[in-house]
Amino acid sequence: MSLERVRKEVVELGRLGRREPVAVHRAEGLDPSKGIFRLEGTRQMTDAREFVLGLMRKAGLEIRFDRVGNMFGRRQGRVSARAVMSGSHLDSVANGGQFDGVVGVVGGLEAVRRLAEEGYPHERPIEIAVFFGEEGSAFGRGAIGSAVLAGMLSQADALNLTDENGTSLRETLRWSGHVGDLEMQLADDVACFVELHVEQGSRLYNTRTRIGVVDRVIGSSWLSIVITGQQNHAGTTPMSERTDALVSAADLILQVKRYAETMARQYDGSAVATVGRLKAFPNAPNVLSETVELGVDVREMVDERMEILMNQILDAVSGLGGRYQVSTEAVVRHKFGVADLSPTVVGTIERCACRLRLTTSRIHSHAGHDAMNLARIVPAGMIFIPSQQGISHSPMEWSDWSDIEAGIRVLTETLKDLSRLE
Ligand code: GLV
Ligand code: MN
Ligand code: MN
Repeated sequence: MSLERVRKEVVELGRLGRREPVAVHRAEGLDPSKGIFRLEGTRQMTDAREFVLGLMRKAGLEIRFDRVGNMFGRRQGRVSARAVMSGSHLDSVANGGQFDGVVGVVGGLEAVRRLAEEGYPHERPIEIAVFFGEEGSAFGRGAIGSAVLAGMLSQADALNLTDENGTSLRETLRWSGHVGDLEMQLADDVACFVELHVEQGSRLYNTRTRIGVVDRVIGSSWLSIVITGQQNHAGTTPMSERTDALVSAADLILQVKRYAETMARQYDGSAVATVGRLKAFPNAPNVLSETVELGVDVREMVDERMEILMNQILDAVSGLGGRYQVSTEAVVRHKFGVADLSPTVVGTIERCACRLRLTTSRIHSHAGHDAMNLARIVPAGMIFIPSQQGISHSPMEWSDWSDIEAGIRVLTETLKDLSRLE
């Protein structure tokens, strides 16, 4: 049974992604302390790529790598034309879930296998993509591979990105070996793109809708902020004489929360801002912090509002100097505008889901995806399936196998339609 094959592969990728190799077949087997740690550059990531490469080879796909670690598996069509591309990512956030990205990679591969087994004579080639570094967990910015493909980030800038240990992306690829010299030109080589993904929110789950047809992906940005104070003794420095970087960081965290709350209340509720990363130095109870690094994630469904929110946060950072005598530095690590997906691809997905008698809902994505970058160059669409309780970026992330099957069936039908020459 082909769903059984998919289940085994998703579970195996989960096993390979954990620090302790545990295979989780059922939601009851999840453990909040045993998430996926598949960051780019880790052994887990190399193992996952090798595993997927093995599946691609077995499926008879032609494998190619580009210069920034994107990996492609192609099944030729009956004619030589621009390909229909599908895929997602294999990297995870730290302590993440086993479905984010993986469902789109294994699901895309499964759709191609089903077409092959059925002997479906697709006209356009079908290209399964595994994009490099979507989560941004290792190299400090998100959706790296797809941003390079879409011309939003230069190859050189991508290759020069460094991880926490100062290892460059270039060195990481040299070490992992998953790199080549393919120069894919999206506009010339790809006709359209469709990505299957778990919703990572609760709308489909709460409304018991089987398939989300995504028409827009939220805008998002990451800020990296460094606050520098004066390191000193926690016992001997009077409260009135401190320049404590961590105290000013605490103030900033609350300001970020308030600005996003106010904007969410004022408009459609899509505004969110999160300080998800905090690194204090030297990080000791009896020492006033010299420096604090904060990682801030900001999102909005309308570009202009996103800009306002970002400026409010940047002003709040500058304002810390006057109030706490600290110095501050803010760097925008990435900035993705709101991405509208293609009405043609969206319509095709909807028709295919209807044909399969699955309930659908048009939905905006509040998470970022590689599709948002590809959509800048080629018509793109996304198929969402429910996330149990709306939980994601967590070891407790779960999607039912029957929903994964529904998503793959919609994807397979969609690839059939999109691979037809107009
Ligand atoms: C990607 O998963 C994101 O951060 O939205
Ligand atoms: Mn994802
Ligand atoms: Mn994710």
